[in-house]
Amino acid sequence: MRGIRITGWGIAVPDKVVTNDDLSLTLDTSDEWIVERTGIRERHIGGTTSGLAIEAAQEALRSAGRTAAEIDNLVLATTTPDGIVPGTAPSVQHGIGMHGGAFDLNAACSGFVYGLVTAAGLVAVGSGPLLLIGSETLSRITDMDDRKIAVIVADGAGAVVIEPVEGPGSLLSWNLNADGSLKHLLKCEHGGTLFMDGKEVFRRAVRVVVDSAERAMADAGLGPDDIDLMVPHQANLRIIQAACQRLSIPEERASIVIDRYGNTSSASIPLALHDAITSGRVHDGDNLLLTGFGGGMTWASAVLRWNG
Ligand code: UT7
Repeated sequence: MRGIRITGWGIAVPDKVVTNDDLSLTLDTSDEWIVERTGIRERHIGGTTSGLAIEAAQEALRSAGRTAAEIDNLVLATTTPDGIVPGTAPSVQHGIGMHGGAFDLNAACSGFVYGLVTAAGLVAVGSGPLLLIGSETLSRITDMDDRKIAVIVADGAGAVVIEPVEGPGSLLSWNLNADGSLKHLLKCEHGGTLFMDGKEVFRRAVRVVVDSAERAMADAGLGPDDIDLMVPHQANLRIIQAACQRLSIPEERASIVIDRYGNTSSASIPLALHDAITSGRVHDGDNLLLTGFGGGMTWASAVLRWNG
């Protein structure tokens, strides 16, 4: 049996910081409304999906002590590829100078957890070290004059190096879920801009996150008290708070970066994971609960025993 272990991490965000006050200059909104309704204070806007992914991947490789030549496969979770064809992952592969497989995975904001499970599957059938990246430039597909959505979206990337280990490895449990009958709730047609039924997505998000997280904990043989750190998708602080409350996981045990980064879809979980690791909140043997949800609808959770 071959399991996985996360051995390196990196992030990249565009230089340009846009505060709520900046948005209030052109939109009928306010810092007070945005902070109260979403928890977001500022976000980074700009760059390209491949460019941010390359930067995050390079930092992850450095932190793992790996060279690009040692990486067998690259999985890029994104809902905002540079173009329709080809995929964006080959550009990232070329940009960092690796050889081997590279493909895009679009599971919207659940993409990083879907990618983690995909990476574990590749390792199980023989892959060597992998790069898993979540990278997004949501601002490119957003009508920045639509206050309902412009205030929450953001750009950024997070990457991890995943290595094979003998035995079960870190991934204790996982579930991947989708319901295409709800695709109308959050969508972007070719050439169009993002549409979101925010209230309905919010309502369903709390329910599915709780259900999926509870199943992942049960499958890992763990209860809420055993979770040392929850790493949720950063869509709205109120969704994170409601999920924590219903799961009986204290909010202090969640990694929350939405105030600084906004909603970066598939990049949000690796951004939050990176923040927790680099600020010393993750220790060997800790149980981490990763959980995401988004367009599709898709939702997914995984429990990791940190480098166990
Ligand atoms: O990441 C993928 C999944 N996405 C999500 O999980 C997002 C889930 N949804 C949300 O986070 C929230 O629904 C939003 C943050 C998008 C909106 O918050 P809300 O509390 O659901 O607001 P609402 O749409 O119900 O609007 C309440 C009021 C409305 O005014 P009226 O009709 O009560 O007079 C809106 O027109 O707030 C108004 N409003 C705003 N006011 C100031 C909506 N957007 C804004 C804004 N600034 N940016």
